Amino acid sequence: MSNELLLVMGIWNALLVVASIVVVFIAGIKIVTSSSWYKKRFAQSQNEWVNLTRRVFDPLKRKLFSDLEQHLRSMEGDVLEIGIGPGSNFDYYPQGTSLIAVDSNPHVEESLKRNLEKAGRKIYLKKFVAASAEDMSCKGEIGVEDNSVAAVVCAKLLCNLSDLQMRKTIAEVKRVLMPGGRFYFLEHVAAKPWTCQYFLQHLVTKLRIWPSLYDGCCCNQNTLSYIHNGGFKWVQSEKIQANCSQEMFSAPNSIYSIWRARVILYFVNIWLVGLAEKGQLSEEKKKL
Ligand SMILES: C[S@@+](CC[C@H](N)C(=O)[O-])C[C@H]1O[C@@H](n2cnc3c(N)ncnc32)[C@H](O)[C@@H]1O
Repeated sequence: MSNELLLVMGIWNALLVVASIVVVFIAGIKIVTSSSWYKKRFAQSQNEWVNLTRRVFDPLKRKLFSDLEQHLRSMEGDVLEIGIGPGSNFDYYPQGTSLIAVDSNPHVEESLKRNLEKAGRKIYLKKFVAASAEDMSCKGEIGVEDNSVAAVVCAKLLCNLSDLQMRKTIAEVKRVLMPGGRFYFLEHVAAKPWTCQYFLQHLVTKLRIWPSLYDGCCCNQNTLSYIHNGGFKWVQSEKIQANCSQEMFSAPNSIYSIWRARVILYFVNIWLVGLAEKGQLSEEKKKL
């Protein structure tokens, strides 16, 4: 056999070995991340992440929720938070909020209840529904009814969803909102096209590295177009870059956790902050 042929076969075999290692690695991560152990661990780590990044997200959340109190005064009704996790938005809810919580991971309920206790009488949990946001009707069980809530809050959830799930979730948001009800969203989205950040976001998402590490999260989502196509009466939004400088992370955190957070936030640093309103039923009928 000629030397050239041996070289080509050697390279081919090396490529096969590398490809097999990558496939086994990704399959291993998939098995681990779909286990109940991981879901429990992920639910706990979300609380740590919320505490670590509280100051980073505070200005964005203040902006997002600036009119929530007034809206709930003008339209009495429940607030539904989808993909609620441990409940990181309670500081921004008005006194006396009646809350319906939805999350597909039932293990978040424990940390959610702990944070509700801390919030005291400010928030009343009407029910916790362990369901996917893309179908909250729960097929006849106690789900969320049509035209029943005054506001839907969604923070850092849509990034986890596939194209179809995203469209179904937005349709569900519209289904459960009362006419005139509002959808409050805070989601990380793709960076400006053709920047280094944009390229890296696409690379780690397309190679399934980011989604495998972070519960299906995709850091290159174009969320706004789905919301615009959701059939709301109006949509208002802006893209804001979060301030991730070192002083935004509070003191008791280790240097390692701060730098890890800063690396993660390099990939998810552009935030879509906005509001959408569901039209009155007469307007909805006109559209049909
Ligand atoms: C990144 S965490 C954000 C938690 C919280 N909203 C916050 O701002 O801290 C995403 C949450 O969405 C939940 N989740 C993921 N996919 C979901 C789905 N299809 N339906 C409902 N919840 C989902 C996860 O279990 C997790 O609690």
